[in-house]
Amino acid sequence: MPNVADLELPGLELDDPGLKGRRWHREMNGLLDSGHWLARAPLATVVLDREAGEFFLRTKSAIFPGRLLADLFGVTDGPLREQIDHNIINQEGDSHRRLRGLVNPSLSPRAATAYRPAMREFLEGLWGSLDVSDEFDFIEAFAQPYPSLTIARVMGAPAADAPRLHDWSMWIQRQFDAIALSDPDTVATIQQKVAEFYDWVRPLIEQRRSTPSDDLISSLIATEEEGERLSDVELENLVLNILVGGVDTTQNQLAHVMRLLAANPEQWAALREDPETLVPRAVQEGLRFEPITPFTARQLTGDLEYRGVNFPAGTVIMVCSFTGNRDPEAFADPTEFDITIDREKARSLTFGAGIHFCVGSNLAKAEMAEALGFFAERVEELELCDQPEFQTVSGIYGIDSLYLKVTPAQPTDLIQPGAAAA
Ligand code: HEM
Repeated sequence: MPNVADLELPGLELDDPGLKGRRWHREMNGLLDSGHWLARAPLATVVLDREAGEFFLRTKSAIFPGRLLADLFGVTDGPLREQIDHNIINQEGDSHRRLRGLVNPSLSPRAATAYRPAMREFLEGLWGSLDVSDEFDFIEAFAQPYPSLTIARVMGAPAADAPRLHDWSMWIQRQFDAIALSDPDTVATIQQKVAEFYDWVRPLIEQRRSTPSDDLISSLIATEEEGERLSDVELENLVLNILVGGVDTTQNQLAHVMRLLAANPEQWAALREDPETLVPRAVQEGLRFEPITPFTARQLTGDLEYRGVNFPAGTVIMVCSFTGNRDPEAFADPTEFDITIDREKARSLTFGAGIHFCVGSNLAKAEMAEALGFFAERVEELELCDQPEFQTVSGIYGIDSLYLKVTPAQPTDLIQPGAAAA
């Protein structure tokens, strides 16, 4: 049986910062058309196919390679390394199960729905301070402030701290980005941001101990005081994981969905006609079509055989959600962005799979649905003014700026609020 290292595979230059936008789509669709299910990237083997992707994400013989990435780029000490060692994504077995069991109830579908009135309030505030008579940058006006306001509310932090939360999330998230980690200045900044976060969160945890409320930190403390086994270090790091996972991600996924809807005016009109059905579908379709996590990764802890290929222990696998989400067996017309197609039967790979499946997926979907429903009520026409400025696909595939022009809906056009559910 051949070893994966001996196979002739197409190459994928994931360390090329120019791989984004149209070129990203062209190259990945080209790989799909080539019929290969594997490709070779600088540090890893890329799995292109959905079924194989699920296999590697779910196997018990693999871990998330967070520590390996840190070692490769010399992040061996300091607050960043402390954080990486405690990050829930780098825990396995009982330790991981325990942390998930503690945090899952605070981010369940029901818990996420309970935050929707607060999300709407934030959107109203942001909309109220916007001059819609001219074009505006959707990132600056909505995508950036909205998830950090939401996460501040989820954590029980003051709304005034939302901009700092955004800054920390944006930097600390780069621990997953090989291009960012190859720059020592970036690593030094991330070290400093982690230290700042720890300094900020410790007094907040103390405050929540003395005055509990209906927030995530209070509920984690309550479990702790009921005799659970959550140490202070675990608590601080769990809160950091929620922050880091929950801001930059939702910001950019929402921005991509708005970009795609603005580029497809007939779909925006359809969504306004039937928000109850099409808002949740637009959320799912945006996640499927333009995943902001185009890859998640695993490092094999034992030899594995799959489809007649030997994958030795230590192999790093990058599972590609972009191509996995275009599996023609699972999705009709997979290369089209189309919110009118019901694709409910298949789950996209954008939130990963297996034990590390995104713990914040319900919150992210609720935030995006609330935002799309909100804009559907107020915006009759949505127009893309410029080519957006895309970031690299390494790490979070974000957008730096997204200029939109909107035609506000006439009061008589207003559709019923609150119609759309996630
Ligand atoms: C559109 C938004 C989001 C996307 C696309 C996304 C994507 C992902 C992916 C791909 C993973 C790794 C899964 C794997 O390797 O199998 C992950 C894990 C994680 N996400 Fe998200 N995420 C999003 C929003 C959020 C939010 C809102 C939060 C927090 C409220 C969050 C917190 C986390 C955490 C803590 C993990 C680690 C889970 C574990 O190891 O058990 N994410 N996410």
